[in-house]
Amino acid sequence: MMDSTNKSLVILLSNVVVLLLAATTVQSCFPSDRAALLEFRAKLNEPYIGVFNTWKGQDCCKGWYGVSCDPNTGRVAGITLRGESEDPIFQKAKRSGLMTGSISPAICKLTRLSGIIIADWKGISGGIPSCIAKLPFLRHIDLVGNKISGVIPANIGMLLRLKVLNLADNQISGVIPPSITRLTSLAHLDLRNNNISGVIPRDIGRLKMLSRVLLSGNKISGQIPESLTRIYRLADLEISMNRLTGSIPVSFGKMSVLATLNLDGNLISGEIPGTLMTSSISNLNLSGNLITGRIPNTFGPRSYFTVLDLANNRLQGPIPASITAASFIGHLDVSHNHLCGKMPAGSPFDHLDATSFAYNTCLCGKPLGYCKK
Ligand SMILES: *[C@@H]1O[C@H](CO)[C@@H](O)[C@H](O)[C@H]1NC(C)=O
Ligand SMILES: *[C@@H]1O[C@H](CO)[C@@H](O)[C@H](O)[C@H]1NC(C)=O
Repeated sequence: MMDSTNKSLVILLSNVVVLLLAATTVQSCFPSDRAALLEFRAKLNEPYIGVFNTWKGQDCCKGWYGVSCDPNTGRVAGITLRGESEDPIFQKAKRSGLMTGSISPAICKLTRLSGIIIADWKGISGGIPSCIAKLPFLRHIDLVGNKISGVIPANIGMLLRLKVLNLADNQISGVIPPSITRLTSLAHLDLRNNNISGVIPRDIGRLKMLSRVLLSGNKISGQIPESLTRIYRLADLEISMNRLTGSIPVSFGKMSVLATLNLDGNLISGEIPGTLMTSSISNLNLSGNLITGRIPNTFGPRSYFTVLDLANNRLQGPIPASITAASFIGHLDVSHNHLCGKMPAGSPFDHLDATSFAYNTCLCGKPLGYCKK
């Protein structure tokens, strides 16, 4: 019989053996992945803080800044280089410097990559290597805040696992590739502030996982695809500052979780669908368009707006009486229209400023002046 000290020693030793076994199954870097990383690095220049100084030695899975590997295979799974990170090493970069250069097609040799995050360096230029569309495990592409130009690879639709595509704040031109409608895992599409032209693919509504579609600040033309209104997870749709024409699909007002609808700064015409006033939308900006007709008299207790901006359009008629039935209106702007008539009394008019109603044809009553008899 073992005494208890011996017994615990045996348990301890067997634990050590298990730990050693576990440690030896952690693979070190795949040599071809290491070579691809060094090729990738050779096209980038980061002179200020030396993020790439850690990229040395044989094992790229150990201590190489921003490189993550699958521990079982030693294959590189992620590259994460963020210029705006909270990591102290980057605070200095924010103050004193940027990364320049371009994204080398050598990145496509990392065939097990699931994430590419090269964000907020301000200085990285050149195009997106079109071969990334052949990385079958990619889930996450985030190149926000650089100077990337060229087009979105036409065959991007091959990335069937892609969940996040964020190319915002770059200089990308060309169109939204029609193949994007094959990305059925896509949840987050952010192409804001680029130079993208052409139309939004008509069948974008096939992307049922989408919750955020952010396209503001481009040169997108054509109509708003009706199919967008059939994406029931869609919570934020921002297409401000583009060249959209046509009218606002009525069915936006019937979407269950749509919270933000920003269509300001386009060439949208037609009338405001009455359903928008009692929908799930709480942030509605339609300002700076060519919208005609009246403000719908369809407000009710379900109407809850943190922002309701209808300024700079061609709206006529009065402010509808039902607006006082809204449960909340934080920021209202109907200035620069052709509205006329007596203001309804009561909330929300008790907290709104006269500037919200300025530059109309003949609105009167609190907070504006008295109505003439
Ligand atoms: C934007 O795209 C247009 C073509 O649509 C091109 O002529 C123009 O040079 C681009 N501008 C920038 C800043 O890239
Ligand atoms: C609505 O859009 C206009 C034009 O893009 C912008 O100036 C305004 O600030 C936006 N309104 C709000 C409340 O954000």
